[in-house]
Amino acid sequence: MGINIRAGAHYTQFIVYDLDSNGWAELVCKTADGTTDGQGTILGSPTADYRNSSGYILSGPEYLSVFDGRTGAFLDTVDYIPPRGRVSDWGDSYGNRVDRFLACAAYLDGVHPSVVMCRGYYARAVLAAWDFSGGKLTLRWVFDTNNGYASYMGQGNHNLSVGDVDGDGFDEIVYGSCTIDHNGTGLYSTGLDHGDAMHLGDLDPARPGLEVFAIHEPRGDTVIGTSFRDAATGEVIWSMTPGDVGRGCSDDIYAGNAGAEMWSSKTEGLRDRYGGYLGSSPGSTNFLIWWDGDLTRELLDDNHIDKYGTSSDTRLLTAAGCSSNNGTKSTPCLSADILGDWREEVIWRTSDNTALRIYTSTAAASHRLYTLMHDPQYRLAIAWQNVAYNQPPHPSFHIGAGMNAPPVPDIVPAGMPSLYGDFNGDLLVDLQDLPAFMDLWLQDSCSLTAEWDVNEDCLINLHEFSALAGNWAGADVTPPSAPAGLTAAAGNGTVVLDWNDNGETDLAGYNVYRSIIAGSNYTLAASLLSSSEFIDNDVVNGITYYYVVTALDKQLNESAISSEASAKPDAIFSIIIQENELGFVGIVTGTIDSNHAGYTGTGFANTTNAVGAYIEWAVSTPAAGRYDLRWRFANGGTSDRRGTVSVNGSQQAAGISFPLTGAWTAWNLTGLVSVNLAQGNNMIRLTAETSDGLANIDWIEITGLLPSAGNS
Ligand code: GCU
Ligand code: CA
Ligand code: CA
Repeated sequence: MGINIRAGAHYTQFIVYDLDSNGWAELVCKTADGTTDGQGTILGSPTADYRNSSGYILSGPEYLSVFDGRTGAFLDTVDYIPPRGRVSDWGDSYGNRVDRFLACAAYLDGVHPSVVMCRGYYARAVLAAWDFSGGKLTLRWVFDTNNGYASYMGQGNHNLSVGDVDGDGFDEIVYGSCTIDHNGTGLYSTGLDHGDAMHLGDLDPARPGLEVFAIHEPRGDTVIGTSFRDAATGEVIWSMTPGDVGRGCSDDIYAGNAGAEMWSSKTEGLRDRYGGYLGSSPGSTNFLIWWDGDLTRELLDDNHIDKYGTSSDTRLLTAAGCSSNNGTKSTPCLSADILGDWREEVIWRTSDNTALRIYTSTAAASHRLYTLMHDPQYRLAIAWQNVAYNQPPHPSFHIGAGMNAPPVPDIVPAGMPSLYGDFNGDLLVDLQDLPAFMDLWLQDSCSLTAEWDVNEDCLINLHEFSALAGNWAGADVTPPSAPAGLTAAAGNGTVVLDWNDNGETDLAGYNVYRSIIAGSNYTLAASLLSSSEFIDNDVVNGITYYYVVTALDKQLNESAISSEASAKPDAIFSIIIQENELGFVGIVTGTIDSNHAGYTGTGFANTTNAVGAYIEWAVSTPAAGRYDLRWRFANGGTSDRRGTVSVNGSQQAAGISFPLTGAWTAWNLTGLVSVNLAQGNNMIRLTAETSDGLANIDWIEITGLLPSAGNS
């Protein structure tokens, strides 16, 4: 970092996160003249030395830099916001509190991570939110207590937390005793002042949303030192005096009480979510870890893990030869669910500082949960574990005895290619992708997702190489074949399109194009349809529409257009064809009679009583489509005189019922029988299915798109 950046837990915050969602993490931190990146590039003057006689750096430029996580190279550097301004504004005049920083990553727009760099908490506090995209840092907003937020002064902790406290889908920054909304405005300030420990989580699962358990430093027996509050409003649910509390902790460590428990160095025992006394305090008030097999959380302190018990704690692990960090804070290097499952690992340094050790639980879990890194709040909490007096991470949902089912993760892996080997996302596997692939070569990390590790053997080796080679420079450029069999049928204010399914395995869908000119001027009417049909209701009756369809594959290669089909939607009409009228073809065998009253027209058709006797009508249509038929009939016989309908020689319906009407003078209507009629002339034949022949038939009605009596 160079001599112009002060070293220490409070001064040098660095956030490691994939800020531009390209699949690789960046590192962001404050920089100065002399900062050298991972490629040896030096920022500003390599010889500048701004340290004063006490070692404070109160002059000289301050920058914010983004480094490439893979190479350490500078990606972008901007002036640090805010500048020091007047040193005394931050809480002292000799230059300690001007250099108090916090930092976090947060999904301020609900989708993309921003990085928030924060300065000051004893007096003035300023939070600057930055987006990193396309290799550039862009300022999103600045929150400044000097800008109308006097009640937020002095409310910051030595730590912060990030979560969607108001449930609007965007992250807020819980800055100790106040909270900054996702848009950079103040959400609330409790006025409870600075403190050293804070826990943001669903600590009371019976209350909607999240809660905050915190401790506060103001001195005095009458001031609040321990508080439990609603994270969305700041409303204090319960609190305890006296003030000046140094340690506090909260989570579900005791299965005998619902929700989280809470304790601080001044609560005189373990408390429930209403502040009620539960038993003696655990042996430590420091970190937490899901370690053994059950859902309650264990205690992590120094180099050991313990399970809370109402009479005494039980030691589960001592990491012999390992030490904790930060003096009396006794924190591990990291505790987090880094290997999957959902229990947490802990990373300690060996006491001789020559190695890091990762410890993981060997206890079988009693429950299956999504890995905790699937939860945005938890994942962001792991990012701010680098920051100041970090406190243990909490997910956004409650984990504990009797917990509800955890939420299904709503996350999208960043930068993962849909085409294996296309690491730069240009839909082509070529030389541009080789460096990224070589970086992975022989990596034996099981944390690589299946998108990288094709056969999930935790090794990027020849298997993956052959997957890459198989796609080499060969992004699929072959389009599907043009759809076949397109038909268009008009209705009243609608056109129904239908075509054959394509057979390509990588088919993504169909596009429909339409014109009102035959053969040209097509415009897109529907895109990426998953099935081979489309109903176009966006049409005007009386206009002829011309359609073509294309097929697209998953690389969005588009086929040639299908052959054209057209249709002219129009209003629906019915016609009735009587015996002896145009369209009445004839009766085989039988007679036209008029000896039973109640008929219309000039009479009715009476077939002989025999299987196969039939009556035929001719109907003309302007377009192929569905039409409804029905008949007026009398059946004074002894049984249902069922019939079959064929159109142009093809049977389309059978078993059509002509039930008894009670008398030859009693007339009824059959149900509607739907048939497909061709464009132009159609021969409709109704044939007797029984030896009684047909009922006496008064007329046939045809309903559909402009039918007319046809030519017999
Ligand atoms: C009687 C009736 C006819 C009818 C016939 C039948 O003859 O008068 O109208 O068609 O029965 O059973 O089909
Ligand atoms: Ca990135
Ligand atoms: Ca008639």
